[in-house]
Amino acid sequence: MTEVLRHDIVIVGGGAAGLRAAIAAVEADPDVSVALVSKVYPMRSHTVSAEGGAAAVDRDDDSFELHGYDTVKGSDFLGDQDVIQYFVQEAPKELTRLEHWGCPWSRNEDGSIATRAFGGMTTKRTWFAADKVGFHMLHTLFQHSMRFDRIVRYDEQFVTKLIVDGGAVRGVSALDIREGVSRAILGRAVILATGGAGICFPFTTNGNIKTGDGMALAYRAGVPLKDMEFVQYHPTGLPGTGILVTEATRGEGGRLFNRKGERFLENAAYGVGSKLELGPRDMISRAVDQEIRAGNGFEGPHGQYLHLDLTHLGRKLLETRLPFVLELCRTYVGVDPVTQPIPIRPVVHYMMGGIDTDIDGATEMPGLYAAGECGNHSLNGANRLGSNSLTECLVFGARAAIHALCFAKGVEAGSESVARQQTEEEAARIASLRGQRKGGESLARTRSQMQEVMEEGLGVYRNQDGMRVAVEKLAQIKERAADIRLEDTSTVFNTELTAYLELVNMLDVAEVAALSGLARRESRGAHACSDFPERNDREYLHHSLVRFDDRRPRVEKKAVTLGRWEPEARKY
Ligand code: FUM
Repeated sequence: MTEVLRHDIVIVGGGAAGLRAAIAAVEADPDVSVALVSKVYPMRSHTVSAEGGAAAVDRDDDSFELHGYDTVKGSDFLGDQDVIQYFVQEAPKELTRLEHWGCPWSRNEDGSIATRAFGGMTTKRTWFAADKVGFHMLHTLFQHSMRFDRIVRYDEQFVTKLIVDGGAVRGVSALDIREGVSRAILGRAVILATGGAGICFPFTTNGNIKTGDGMALAYRAGVPLKDMEFVQYHPTGLPGTGILVTEATRGEGGRLFNRKGERFLENAAYGVGSKLELGPRDMISRAVDQEIRAGNGFEGPHGQYLHLDLTHLGRKLLETRLPFVLELCRTYVGVDPVTQPIPIRPVVHYMMGGIDTDIDGATEMPGLYAAGECGNHSLNGANRLGSNSLTECLVFGARAAIHALCFAKGVEAGSESVARQQTEEEAARIASLRGQRKGGESLARTRSQMQEVMEEGLGVYRNQDGMRVAVEKLAQIKERAADIRLEDTSTVFNTELTAYLELVNMLDVAEVAALSGLARRESRGAHACSDFPERNDREYLHHSLVRFDDRRPRVEKKAVTLGRWEPEARKY
């Protein structure tokens, strides 16, 4: 008989947002029991690969007002200002709390916290631990979480369905990747914290696990996805692999050059003003893209690239502050940044869009919350500022947990028989996939086709025709995906099966992103639409929602919460 496990709160995802939520819940309530369900071991969550830092006000020349304004402007006025104000106020508390739990933030000579410059930020407000910030943050959170035996971990469990009863979420069905069985995990509230969906694209900084699983789970259950057209391209990825070269390189003084040796960001047309390499990511990625298109790039085995030069910074600084960059460049492109420029090109890094939530992380579905990159509280709007996202995971992971806890106290536990029935149906569906599909389509080829369509249609620059073609092709790929051949009958670590489930998730997320992009006939933040090059506040100062309704996607709008900062031309 299908096993049914019971907890008060079920958290899906073991990265920074999921772990922070779990800790917040057990610290707030001595009796609560939390299930932390993750398709990987938590220390393998993608948070581990974050490099450059986490933003919070900590200096005399800084203020909540400045951090708030930078974030609103960075978002191209699509961030909700109540959310942003809450975020900037909580940010220093969260980073200090992490320090108390053992996070080894880098220090100034006098022992105070060291902060570095990051793109689009007025002053140095990015806290760091050399350039291995994600690693240290994740370690800190994971080790702190282990103090609580009421956080029960379910590692290597792939959540394939939300259990919904009477319109409310009651838990999840999870496939045990190690054994192949599906179990029901009942919770009075569920928090999705599964990260983004960069693997929808072929060239990304994201780990292979970032396949939009939480977004797809919520979407298929009827909860809309918000602002999915805004895909962040990070300006500096290593050609070939897409490995991130952190923005901290530019924060420490790195400069970008084209083939002619020009520091091209000095060209006023790129809009970054005197910020140059410390302009916001959307603008710098566009500048790099334009330089390459204008023939000012270097030719390499993986296409055109530009140079990021750190050689003037000196070995001592690089070895102290950017040791991981040195290691990555030496290992993956055979370049020593101490003496040689680094080849770079824009790379998909982050989805501004995600599951539509309010400031508490609550979705439209009673009991369902989201936090981290998979959720969208409307903090980042049309363009996220670098180093806001690690802090976001902490601030909104904690807030979602507290609100989920309040919700959980007021509701009865879900019905065991409903959970069992839904999970048995899910187990039967999965069994019918495992080695049972004799179709003519290849899984790997179908995934590559989706990725190519996304790169072509939703690149640094997009246009209406390209996005229309993307929508059409994705619909065809979705149809063909029904005929994908699955040959592995194993129940133990059947990676063919999980890759298929992930692909189905990505196809939903990709379709939503393309549809949202097509509906936004303006340019704003990371959505640079060549046929509508201007921002159009009169018609498009709203969030995009896409809802799965009557088995079809439906595009809707949601109001932006404005406040003290009136929309203005975004000039740096
Ligand atoms: O460049 C970086 O280190 C990335 C930071 C971020 O995405 O916040």
